[in-house]
Amino acid sequence: MNGWIEIRESGIHNKGVFAGKTIPKGTYIIEYTGEIITSEEADKRDTENEKKGLTYIFILDEDRCIDGAIHGNDAKYINHSCSPNCDCEIEGGKVWIVANKDIEKGEELVYDYEFPHDDDVKDACLCRSHNCRGFIQANAPNA
Ligand SMILES: C[S@@+](CC[C@H](N)C(=O)[O-])C[C@H]1O[C@@H](n2cnc3c(N)ncnc32)[C@H](O)[C@@H]1O
Ligand SMILES: [Zn+2]
Repeated sequence: MNGWIEIRESGIHNKGVFAGKTIPKGTYIIEYTGEIITSEEADKRDTENEKKGLTYIFILDEDRCIDGAIHGNDAKYINHSCSPNCDCEIEGGKVWIVANKDIEKGEELVYDYEFPHDDDVKDACLCRSHNCRGFIQANAPNA
C-alpha cells in the first residue's frame, strides 16, 4: 500500500490495484519489486506458474527477471490490459509503473504485460477493452 493505490477485487482477475485518488499523468506510482533472477530460473518457475495460470514474473531484460512472488510489493497485483493506463519504465535495473494518462480515483491500474509471443502458450485476456487482442501474449511478429 502506498499513497496512490488500493488493492481490491478486480473484474479482470482476482485481486487488482486501483487508484485511491486522482493520479496525474507521468506519476511514478510504484516500483515493481521482487527477487531478481536469471531468465533460465524464470523459465523454470514459469513452467510451474503455467500450471497455476498465475505468474508474478516481470521480464527486466534479456538476462534478468523480477519475481514479485518473492519479496514483492503491491505492484505484483497490477493486472494486464490491452488498453493500459500505465506504462513500465525501466531505469537502472529498476521497474517503475508510471501513469500514461490522468487516472481517476477508483479506476483500475493496468499495464500491457507484453508477454513474449509464444505459439504454444496463450493466456486468454479478460481485460474487456474495445481493442483487446484476445491474449495476454503480444501479437505474433510479422513473418
Ligand atoms: C501479476 S499477477 C496480477 C494479479 C492477480 N490478479 C492476482 O490476484 O494475484 C498476473 C496474473 O494475473 C492474471 N491476469 C492479469 N491480467 C489478466 C488479464 N487481462 N486477463 C486474464 N488474466 C489476467 C493472470 O493469471 C496472470 O498470470
Ligand atoms: Zn485484452
